[in-house]
Amino acid sequence: MLSWGRHYVMVEPTHFRVDYEINPYMHVTDQPDPALAMHEWQTLRSTIERLGGRVDVLEQRPDAPDMVYAMNLGLGLVRPHGPHVVMSHMRYAQRRMESASAQPWFAGRGFTTSYVGRDGVGAHFEAGDAFPFGGELLVGYGPRTDELALKHLANDLGVSVRGFRIVHPSMYHFDLAFCPLDDRRALVAPSALDPASAEALLDLVPEPLVLTEDEELASFATNSIVIGSTIVMPACPDRVREQLEDWGFAVELVDVTEFHKGGGSIRCLTNPVDITVGRDLAPVDGGRVTLPPV
Ligand code: ARG
Repeated sequence: MLSWGRHYVMVEPTHFRVDYEINPYMHVTDQPDPALAMHEWQTLRSTIERLGGRVDVLEQRPDAPDMVYAMNLGLGLVRPHGPHVVMSHMRYAQRRMESASAQPWFAGRGFTTSYVGRDGVGAHFEAGDAFPFGGELLVGYGPRTDELALKHLANDLGVSVRGFRIVHPSMYHFDLAFCPLDDRRALVAPSALDPASAEALLDLVPEPLVLTEDEELASFATNSIVIGSTIVMPACPDRVREQLEDWGFAVELVDVTEFHKGGGSIRCLTNPVDITVGRDLAPVDGGRVTLPPV
């Protein structure tokens, strides 16, 4: 079982729109239905709560239509001195104002906050690119997060960071290609990565459930979250469901297709803040970065 993923931050979609196009899914001519999106979001929230998770809700800024993808606000961690968030520094200017609301919200709830770059200056980092696995922080970089951010994360947090180069335009965040399930298992869509990174990731996960490019693109299956032994998924190919059930997981489907119009699914809508340094991430003096071979 995953030790983290019981406490989430979500942003209520009161101003969810597609105002610009920063990923291949977004088309300003294909707008979400506000009532349907709200219904899907509420179903996701109540599903998490029913499974024993806690959800804290942050208000959406009227001028930030993508803020609903709360995963990208920052990387939440429990550190020895208390809760902390490494704030995202969004690649695209259209999303940078989200940090101006998220930072005070976290600070008001007792989180210390830090940046690896901000306001367009310094390394970009989007938290949808980062996961703990095997005691290390695995980070996808390229389309959104800069390679330089990995060094800052490792040094600032004192952990081991392992980088994976993302090359697929439609899997522009690592959470569109990777979903840890427990200590040994993960959903992996290796076609998101360059060959060396794909190999490195498959070597690292003892029991990967590998999705083809078509399976992933048709289902957003890796953009799922795990609460205990239940995987909350937007959709699940039959073959994948069989393997998950064989492993003892239950699959719970929640339809969030309105949010696919912005290029995000269940994991993008939820941000876990209970990843714990010393439990989920092993402390490493001064930090360490491992990159795939070029
Ligand atoms: N429209 C958003 C963007 O392009 C979608 C974010 C999806 N979030 C995620 N964690 N993959 O930034």
